[in-house]
Amino acid sequence: MHSQKISEGVYLLRANHWDRRLFDELIPLPEGTTYNSYIIFGSEKTALIDAVDFSKEDELIEALKNMGVEKIDYIVSNHAEQDHSGGINKLLSVYPHAKIVTNSKCKEFLMDLLHIPEERFLVVEDGEELSLGDKTLKFIKMPWVHWPETMITYLVEDGILFTCDLFGAHYATSDVYVYDEMREYLAAKRYYAEIMMPFRQSIKKYLQKVKELNPRIIAPSHGPLHKNPEFILNAYERWVSDEVSNEVLIVFVSMHGSTKKIVDYLADKIAKKGIKVRYYNLTVTDVGDLLMDVVDAATIVIATPTVLTGAHPSIVSAAYLLNLLRPKTKFVAFITSYGWGSRAIEQLKSLMPNIWAEILDEIAVKGYPKEEDFARLDELVEKIYEKHKEQNLIGGD
Ligand code: FEO
Repeated sequence: MHSQKISEGVYLLRANHWDRRLFDELIPLPEGTTYNSYIIFGSEKTALIDAVDFSKEDELIEALKNMGVEKIDYIVSNHAEQDHSGGINKLLSVYPHAKIVTNSKCKEFLMDLLHIPEERFLVVEDGEELSLGDKTLKFIKMPWVHWPETMITYLVEDGILFTCDLFGAHYATSDVYVYDEMREYLAAKRYYAEIMMPFRQSIKKYLQKVKELNPRIIAPSHGPLHKNPEFILNAYERWVSDEVSNEVLIVFVSMHGSTKKIVDYLADKIAKKGIKVRYYNLTVTDVGDLLMDVVDAATIVIATPTVLTGAHPSIVSAAYLLNLLRPKTKFVAFITSYGWGSRAIEQLKSLMPNIWAEILDEIAVKGYPKEEDFARLDELVEKIYEKHKEQNLIGGD
């Protein structure tokens, strides 16, 4: 465990999970992840902010012992998900006088998930403050910044905002603060896409609240801390906005080359129109890379071979995931290639009720694409071009 002083009486306790490769058994972690806890020594009370994942609870306890922490008065739980709460039961047994400080919804979840007895909780309301003596914690509820119980905690005197998942990034690092902004930007965008994107509208509302606090440091519970909060706030502002980029994502699988012929043709034609194209063959794609681009892209084209009248299972999975994550995509198009019959496009549309994008076309190609199919694809490219122009994404001819 990496411990580091970040302010007078405030220490980061970070568990790096260097070799974790999957989160929620769903999200690839190419660079591992981190779980950050923080300990704050006030003149009268000691508080720990967020615990770590189950797998790292012993490291946290050992780090606290090494620091000589004999007593913890409060364990602040900003979010009940187990990567931040997993270590709480162990902490409660080692520090038997500690109270868990959280909101009523989070208390309910922690009781359900970890079977923590009710008497161990101290419930706080939105905006409530808790004195540690010469330091004050202020709790700000931000429901639906991942789960309905999420909140953030502000250490008033030090200007440190503990945001748990919000403004985090999944990568293991020994850097306490953001060191390489480009690396952080990509990791934070990937994290936003995978974790935060469905809550875009809530976050849009909360960004203003965060700015009003004007924190000196933003301290999430995943990834490095932000000494320059403006960097991550500006990035989030762009991601949660309604603005899209002049970009088409082509998401496809090809079994015998027909769909590949279609998407290769399409990618080439779209690029020639001055529109950026990203091309995702789902058989070789890290889904996190795709999701990162989904954050901004104006248009997504989904192309699938027909497998026994339906879409290819990898495409079904991607469509289902996109629907869960609710991107701000403005336009979509569906393409399928088939041998004798297909309900693939109908099936994909039924899987994506949360995607409000305008459907530009639905193209079914029988067998290997022929001249009339390419003509139809040309029409789709024209439609995409016109729509991007209407959105002021492309300059005049
Ligand atoms: Fe990092 Fe929603 O847990």
